[in-house]
Amino acid sequence: MTDPRPTTAPVLASDGLTRNFGGLAAVRDVSIALHRRELHAVIGPNGAGKSTLVNLLSGELAPTAGRINLMGRDVAGEPSWRMAHLGIGRSFQRTNLLGPASVLENVRLGIQARHAQASGLFRSAGKARDLIDRADAVLARIGLAGVRDQIAGTLSHGHQRQLEIAMAIAGTPQVLLLDEPMAGIGPEESERMLLLLKSLAQDHAVLLIEHDMDFVFAVADWMTVMVDGAVLADGKPETIRANVAVQSAYLGGAA
Ligand SMILES: Nc1ncnc2c1ncn2[C@@H]1O[C@H](COP(=O)(O)OP(=O)(O)OP(=O)(O)O)[C@@H](O)[C@H]1O
Ligand SMILES: [Mg+2]
Repeated sequence: MTDPRPTTAPVLASDGLTRNFGGLAAVRDVSIALHRRELHAVIGPNGAGKSTLVNLLSGELAPTAGRINLMGRDVAGEPSWRMAHLGIGRSFQRTNLLGPASVLENVRLGIQARHAQASGLFRSAGKARDLIDRADAVLARIGLAGVRDQIAGTLSHGHQRQLEIAMAIAGTPQVLLLDEPMAGIGPEESERMLLLLKSLAQDHAVLLIEHDMDFVFAVADWMTVMVDGAVLADGKPETIRANVAVQSAYLGGAA
């Protein structure tokens, strides 16, 4: 039995996506569909292939086989800068910030890099003000306006993770791929992150990788469970919670 999906076309979908590293199939025949206004959690044990899947969907890695469709366009094998230009924003499992630069500078450079590579927009000095205005709008959206001029490396861990999400939305994407944005943050900060993720899911398709099952079951609209590179189960949180194969392979009865 499968849960019903939205009737509208997915924003981003993969079909038979596979990536081998030598003899290891890190991602095997994965078909996943991300829909706008859905928070889609991808869970699975360490080494299940979750980050590799995100790296394929964002163009960081080229697939060995399979297709990726982004808003009706076949994009498998496109480089990451082009995926970003076509509407994909992503954050990294490991921090990817410019520590010595200010919060505003990080976002400004993120926007600029994306546009310079894609179209040359914002290159002229006359556009500098627009760029700062856009970076400020991003910071307001993410709840970081108050630390705008702080040096990124001196932010609290939770604020650094929020800044990584600010970087991910800097290019005004349709799809957000967030690889463990909550890793290592405290309870108060994770409450703030929960509200932020819910708000982002109101106008994006969001893929969230997260290990905290209480958090995932509280926030996800849809879940994909990966084990050994492949999809073990796909469905609504209540369906996943009740799935015996998922319980024995991953949740260990703890959910
Ligand atoms: N660049 C690479 N070269 C070789 N093997 C890799 C590479 N990247 C990932 N792998 C391997 O692919 C498998 C999947 O790794 P991946 O990082 O996608 O797992 P994950 O589900 O994100 O794990 P975690 O929860 O620990 O972050 C692992 O066995 C990993 O060692
Ligand atoms: Mg990972």
